Amino acid sequence: MKIGILTGGGDCPGLNAVIRAIVRKGVFHYDDEFVGFMEGWRGVLEDMKRPLDLDAVAGILPRGGTILRTSRTNPAKKERGLERCAETLRKNGVEALIALGGDDTQSVSLKLFENGVNVVAVPKTIDNDLSGTDMCFGFDTAVSIATEAIDRVHTTAEAHNRVIVVEVMGRDAGWIALYSGVAGGADFILIPERAIDIEEVAQAVQRRHERGRDFSIIVVAEGARMARDSEAITESRKTDEFGHVRLGGIGSTLAAEIERRTGFETRAVVLGHILRGGTPTAFDRMLATRYGVAAIDLVHEGRFGRMVALKGNDITSVPIADAVAKTRQVNQEMIDMALSLLDKQEASALSSYVQRPS
Ligand code: F6P
Repeated sequence: MKIGILTGGGDCPGLNAVIRAIVRKGVFHYDDEFVGFMEGWRGVLEDMKRPLDLDAVAGILPRGGTILRTSRTNPAKKERGLERCAETLRKNGVEALIALGGDDTQSVSLKLFENGVNVVAVPKTIDNDLSGTDMCFGFDTAVSIATEAIDRVHTTAEAHNRVIVVEVMGRDAGWIALYSGVAGGADFILIPERAIDIEEVAQAVQRRHERGRDFSIIVVAEGARMARDSEAITESRKTDEFGHVRLGGIGSTLAAEIERRTGFETRAVVLGHILRGGTPTAFDRMLATRYGVAAIDLVHEGRFGRMVALKGNDITSVPIADAVAKTRQVNQEMIDMALSLLDKQEASALSSYVQRPS
């Protein structure tokens, strides 16, 4: 069978491990032939491709990035975009397409599937915000990098009696912030799932320092908001082809506000793309490999329109439609767990603006 593979959206550690697993199982067990479409959906739109054989995937398992490159191209925004994608696949004799990506990439997979294209999806995002799966590969690597950074920031904050605000990626979900904040022992964790009351945060920092601590670490998710339903604080209003604004900037705003309100010297550190770069953790290599193997099996079972998924420790699959239906945000159990690590007074003050899911 001739199968196409593409990687779309932001890159993510583990993409190459998925590609390698698909090609190895496909060649060894199903006698498949593969074509790699370059730069996400742009490659399918414009017929930019490369052959993908065993040699092409040799040695790529530990490599970050993606040998197929990526982009945030949205065919639905181009003239006859979806039709042109289907035409490219037909022209190349591609009978099935495996798309590695997050909610934006998979929203295009869904449209193509509804238009008769045989698509299987693999969930990819460091943000871990795709519904239908318990975990996306790349998340564990991002959390590990962020945790190490928080550990390092701790020693310098303590040496200088400073407050340090660490801004991490995650878009509208606080998974990276919450996991790395808890794993790194941050004093306060601010996530998009609850609105930040800056006065309350400043007072909490003040109280901590009055209790004898001379430094504080605050982890903030890039998509956290200063007030419920307000816009995210950003340095740029630029949007991508899926309409997402370029996030980043809340860390420095927060740092300035905390310094102004408490008088404590405060600095901001933005981890940004460092969280997406470099080699995947062993956990992500394993998850990526399991996803790749499951994806090629789905193709040969003819179960199109589905996304491979992790439920507990088992690999399964869900309809792509379920995966893109809504953003998977941090749940109440995790929020309560993080709050339970705080002094009771802080916890009740901070939990007052936790947005309880309806
Ligand atoms: O979607 C993953 C992500 O890493 C988000 O956390 C972040 O907002 C976005 O990508 C930034 O991506 P880029 O700078 O590549 O547009």
